Amino acid sequence: MRRILLSSLVLAGATLIAGDPAKDLPKFQGGDLQKYWMDACARCHGVNGNGRDNSGKQLPDAGFDFTDSRKANKKKDADWVKVTMEGKDKMPAFKDKMAQADAEKMIAILRKFSAK
Ligand code: HEC
Repeated sequence: MRRILLSSLVLAGATLIAGDPAKDLPKFQGGDLQKYWMDACARCHGVNGNGRDNSGKQLPDAGFDFTDSRKANKKKDADWVKVTMEGKDKMPAFKDKMAQADAEKMIAILRKFSAK
């Protein structure tokens, strides 16, 4: 009995940790967009935009490596704003989370990841 209880607790814990990265995305409250990247985007795209976690492991829902300048340079700002606002496949839409103008400002952060 105790064993069963314990293993279900472990399972619940694992689900909590793994979670769904698209769930509970915070709204942008104004202020520091770099901080918003950490709070809302890094869980999928990585702190450094390379789609990896702090131990260098590939994140499952990264979708794009912003540090790949060859690929990033082919992308238009307007398209990145559009994907951020409207979402695409596993990329959640942020139109309810941030204003278009803030998404436009976010592009500078996205560009920095591939600037060497
Ligand atoms: C739940 C995971 C998740 C979160 C959170 C997330 N993204 Fe994404 N993002 C993705 C995935 C997956 C893709 C690839 C979509 C595709 O092309 O199918 C993507 C693609 C993008 C692209 C387009 C890249 C390209 O292909 O040119 C931009 C721009 C982007 N994300 C910006 C952001 C920003 C800014 C945030 C935070 C405000 C954010 N993302 C949060 C998963 C996420």
